[in-house]
Amino acid sequence: MRYSFDIIGSREKAVAIIKMNYEGDPEKIAEEIMERHKNVKAVLLEESPREGDTRLRKLRLIRGSEDTEVVHVEYGIRIKLDPRLVYFSPREGEERQRIARKVRPGEKVLVMFAGVGPYALAVAKRQPEAHVIGVEINEIAYRYFLENIRINKMEGRVEAMLGDVRDVCPKFFGMFDRVIMPLPLYAYHFLDIAIKSLKSSGGELHFYYWGGEDAFEKAEMLVKEEAERLGFSSTVLERRRVSSYSPRTWKVRVDFKLERKIQQ
Ligand SMILES: C[S@@+](CC[C@H](N)C(=O)[O-])C[C@H]1O[C@@H](n2cnc3c(N)ncnc32)[C@H](O)[C@@H]1O
Repeated sequence: MRYSFDIIGSREKAVAIIKMNYEGDPEKIAEEIMERHKNVKAVLLEESPREGDTRLRKLRLIRGSEDTEVVHVEYGIRIKLDPRLVYFSPREGEERQRIARKVRPGEKVLVMFAGVGPYALAVAKRQPEAHVIGVEINEIAYRYFLENIRINKMEGRVEAMLGDVRDVCPKFFGMFDRVIMPLPLYAYHFLDIAIKSLKSSGGELHFYYWGGEDAFEKAEMLVKEEAERLGFSSTVLERRRVSSYSPRTWKVRVDFKLERKIQQ
């Protein structure tokens, strides 16, 4: 048998997700996982790639309990979710910390595509003097996000908003020091909204993108062009390959500083 899997949850209760590229009998794989990891109460088999706006995938229960809601613990943050109903990846915990470490006291931070809130909570935990707003379109994820704010006692410092960033963000235009865009496949469709959400003088943008060897160049061109169109100059602060989807395809992040151009 050859397989890889993720475990989401806590020491008391977790679910395992077998990735699509397994070889062998999934029932036997599930048995082996539950034998080795006593906290795993259910095993799900990934049956499709992530799809659509909500980035959900087909997950079939092949062993254990029907109840797949868990509380995942990451860097002291408790994140409640059901992986069958919402997006969550335990592999991105360190990436969230990298972003959280960049936030300075007093900043206003916008997390677009916020999911159940892991970026927003990571930022607020590391930087207690930041104010964070997260926007999420999937109502179930939004409800978990609200609950996660309560569980982590971050009311007043983190706010969850339900809806499409295109509809929700215009009321925040000009408000943020920093915008995070964790939707690698489609974030570029929303660059206008992200840039207009920054303060009128500018701010920092964390742009996620998906592509091959030229992913950084493409990401940089997309942001530069949109920034120029809206009257900002853009400077690259950091480039990072966050993870690989396949041998020559990566999820990348490029961080930018945007500054309002002085009109001649
Ligand atoms: C890749 S997931 C990331 C979720 C979360 N940031 C995390 O790291 O777990 C992208 C999320 O964006 C949400 N989403 C997609 N399009 C959206 C839109 N136009 N407005 C608001 N949220 C959106 C999806 O429902 C999904 O939860």
